[in-house]
Amino acid sequence: MIDADFRSLLPPTATATADGITIGGVPLVAVAERFGTPSYVIDEQSLREQIGSFRDALARRWGAGRVHFASKAFPTTAMYRVMAEEGIGVDVAGGGELHLALRAGVRPDVILLHGNAKTDEEISLALEAGVGLVVIDNFDDIDRLERLAPGRQSVLVRVRPDVVAPTHEAMATGHASSKFGLSIPDARRAIERITRSRHLGLEGLHVHIGSQISELAPFTHAVEALADLGEFDTYDLGGGLAARYTYGDHAPSPDEWVETLTEAARRVLPAHARILLEPGRSVVARAGVTLYRVVTVKHGEPTFVAVDGGMGDNLDVSLYGQRFESAVVTRPSGGGPVDLVGRHCESGDRLVEGARLNDPRPGDLIVVAVTGAYCVTMANNYNGARRPPVVFVRDGVATLRQRRETYEDLASRDV
Ligand code: LLP
Repeated sequence: MIDADFRSLLPPTATATADGITIGGVPLVAVAERFGTPSYVIDEQSLREQIGSFRDALARRWGAGRVHFASKAFPTTAMYRVMAEEGIGVDVAGGGELHLALRAGVRPDVILLHGNAKTDEEISLALEAGVGLVVIDNFDDIDRLERLAPGRQSVLVRVRPDVVAPTHEAMATGHASSKFGLSIPDARRAIERITRSRHLGLEGLHVHIGSQISELAPFTHAVEALADLGEFDTYDLGGGLAARYTYGDHAPSPDEWVETLTEAARRVLPAHARILLEPGRSVVARAGVTLYRVVTVKHGEPTFVAVDGGMGDNLDVSLYGQRFESAVVTRPSGGGPVDLVGRHCESGDRLVEGARLNDPRPGDLIVVAVTGAYCVTMANNYNGARRPPVVFVRDGVATLRQRRETYEDLASRDV
């Protein structure tokens, strides 16, 4: 049996079988046997359903619009392909993500390029590819595009609305002292310049106030801040909706979030305008889990359960103090509290403090829930860790989408 509160954090296809927790019809023990640990597992059905929730929530409420996946949350070929198949766009935060998206077959016209420091090279790549929109973050972006655009490029101006998002300070981007976007007066000047430009077509405005935001009011304020800048054809209202990581967390649903944004838009933005959204975390977070093998248990106060991964594959705990929940795959009910820690050489390398693990022993398989967003992205080679594979599960079939790094890979860039 899986405790109801842990089940509520797993992908919705999760069930308890004789083998322990099964996701997408595949027992996690089978995934671990075949692909090793640590491994990222993505439940494809849950992922596609969540994409559909955002797409439908917007389509129901607004005539013209599109959801763009903020691909920084999971920038891998398989993920870009799913987005393309589901008919949504993607946003890319630079040349690397752009390259991956194009390579995976995402249509350039549904790609949107971001960045507060886009280089000539990145802008040229985007122009050559024919991306649908470039988001102007600063006046140098305007100069660069004027200089590099062979024809005409549609752009949005990113506005810094002076809204303080209630989230970790590293993830807030809408406040007055943020490095992103232009203040309202500067946005006005940028709009004037772009309107006179021969190479830039001003489509509209962009706003994004931060990430992992679980209150709705700041989103309303951000939309309202756009109203005084004039009437445009397109408004990109950003991402930022929180995911629910722990038993105690609350996160609004995609429907509630989209309702908040479109309610504000109905009041203050032109009715004919196209609305774009760019959620990342909330699209992929719950579709993903990470599997680890227990290496050693050190009994005491507290008891440390150390696994074969850690801050190399999940940096969010040490960077932002993000909390997660976990279970023993074959005994997913009750137990704990113990400290689930990683294998890396610092005390900050914790996965779950006070984890409810039922009698964890060396060799046990551990599942950490809600690791679908940003864990793959922020993975690193600290202590020579090999970045884990990405396995998609669906209808009883597990498919390797990205292999584990090898020790040789660690030397593959040497010259
Ligand atoms: N749009 C823009 C312009 C963004 O900068 C971001 C996220 C998003 C959309 C998507 O936001 P989301 O819906 O995922 O909250 N490194 C951190 C996450 C930082 C997010 C940065 N920007 C982490 O590991 O949790």
